[in-house]
Amino acid sequence: MHAVAIVAAAGSGSRLGADRPKALVPLAGRPLVVWAVEGLLAGGVAEVVVTVPAAEREAFAAVLPAAVRMVDGGATRTASVRAGLAAVPDADAVLVHDAARPLTPPEVVARVLAALEGGAEAVVPVLPVVDTTVLVDDDGAVVEAVPRAPLRRVQTPQGFDRATLVAAYAALPEGAELTDDAAVVRAAGIRVETVAGDERSAKITVPHDLTLAELAVGLDGTVPR
Ligand code: CTP
Ligand code: MG
Repeated sequence: MHAVAIVAAAGSGSRLGADRPKALVPLAGRPLVVWAVEGLLAGGVAEVVVTVPAAEREAFAAVLPAAVRMVDGGATRTASVRAGLAAVPDADAVLVHDAARPLTPPEVVARVLAALEGGAEAVVPVLPVVDTTVLVDDDGAVVEAVPRAPLRRVQTPQGFDRATLVAAYAALPEGAELTDDAAVVRAAGIRVETVAGDERSAKITVPHDLTLAELAVGLDGTVPR
């Protein structure tokens, strides 16, 4: 199985509010996208393609390993993943990952790959919901508690049979924006399996997330990994 990872890294990171695109923001001295790429390679993917903001190619080239290919991303994550998919015609399996999840352990990547090897067409890493979870009305008043046993939080990397993902994106109406890639294949009627995710795969969205990631790196003593 030839597995290629597509790293979505073409966002600006407006909620992080840094002086550069989020994927280039340093965590323990190394850009988030570099952490993400190394985790994928350590977990067993053969090749990595990174979708980058078109205007930032040089800055990404300066930090990424030479073997990593870059493609210009689009205005939305969905458009960026579409561009990445078009650049990996020879892959059997595709893992789509966020540069914004820099500390994703290689074991998670390996679990996703193993599920694909085992015949899954689509697989996502998930975590249970531990907080009491409720529905509220328009005024913010609690309506009812949601039974949380069957609820899961979905992370990346999400793994797919490449042809299945390509077909699902082709069937998605132009302009439709779904929040992740598993939603795209589910919209096409494909069964999406799950494997165990990991709290360390947490997404960096706001400055506090970066603070937590810096602490996690220090506690794990993994600088540099
Ligand atoms: N992404 C992308 N292309 C876009 C938008 C997002 O490749 N046009 C990527 C981001 O680089 C990120 C991942 O998708 O790694 C998840 O998106 P998010 O966390 O929302 O990142 P940003 O869109 O950069 O952040 P914000 O929404 O705060 O601007
Ligand atoms: Mg965004």
